[in-house]
Amino acid sequence: MTENVIKKNKPFSKIGGHKDVIRELRYLVELPQKFTNLAKFKDGILLYGPPGVGKTLLMRELAASIGDCHFEIVQGPELMSQFVGQGEEQLREIFKNAAWESQKRKLPSFIFFDEIDAILSSRDNSDTQYEVRFVNQFLSLVDGFHDRGDIIVIGATNRPHSLDSALKRSERFDTEYYLSYPTIEDRKEIIKILIQKYSSKNVEICLQSINQTSIDELAQVTENYNGSDLEGLFKKAYEKMKHRCFKLDDETGEFTQECLPVLKKQDLEDSFKLYIPHFKRQSQNKINYYEKFQS
Ligand SMILES: Nc1ncnc2c1ncn2[C@@H]1O[C@H](COP(=O)(O)OP(=O)(O)OP(=O)(O)O)[C@@H](O)[C@H]1O
Ligand SMILES: [Mg+2]
Repeated sequence: MTENVIKKNKPFSKIGGHKDVIRELRYLVELPQKFTNLAKFKDGILLYGPPGVGKTLLMRELAASIGDCHFEIVQGPELMSQFVGQGEEQLREIFKNAAWESQKRKLPSFIFFDEIDAILSSRDNSDTQYEVRFVNQFLSLVDGFHDRGDIIVIGATNRPHSLDSALKRSERFDTEYYLSYPTIEDRKEIIKILIQKYSSKNVEICLQSINQTSIDELAQVTENYNGSDLEGLFKKAYEKMKHRCFKLDDETGEFTQECLPVLKKQDLEDSFKLYIPHFKRQSQNKINYYEKFQS
């Protein structure tokens, strides 16, 4: 759950698209860390959007852009699955820890609540007293954290409508960013990132066979794909490549190598024929659902 201190990395190089959101977040969060005479951002931030568009990834990239910082990812469902009382205790510990890191070690502290809807569903729809207490506990911790040092709380959700409305009160999570499905240009960027990623997986990607034209073509035909689907497509293609290049002999039970393990455009095309993207599995209503929250 805890990432602790994150060392500097090239910021935002692993994320395709979301340029405007990244820019806004950098001004809001990163700039005051670097130019310390500027006022620090104190409120909570909510990232919302459909599954698989890079909310969690963006958070990690944001922490990397700050450089040395304390960064704790709290998985909402994990916290909620604790025994009654334990989750609340853990929540208090998380805030205490962040305050300690900020005050004693002078590190900017981030608490990132992934799938925050699991812990902060509307109290009106809560089934148990425990859930209501949990939301109350969270709100009181969030209200108090402003005085406890350089702590930034960020939540991410793909179910924004289910969140308790008190969260949006000023100084809690009233800064919201919508992360949408990737445009064609975003998909080109994501595909390039994936090519780089899979190039370093011990196999060389055959760059002659995946050139700019193929990237453009792939971005064109993957209209209903989010970043996670594109990653899924590459994973499947990688598996295809293994089957193409290595044969398992049923008689001897041994593998033999038939060709150089190089991911080709053909592997991606074969994988494309089988892959069903998330958006296709869902309905168009889903997109309307997020856009309604935005307005
Ligand atoms: N914009 C993107 N650029 C590059 N890779 C992406 C992008 N979006 C998603 N991915 C890939 O998909 C994976 C899953 O994305 P991520 O977990 O960040 O989605 P999410 O929006 O947090 O989804 P969920 O709502 O289900 O939690 C990432 O680890 C990354 O490999
Ligand atoms: Mg996520």
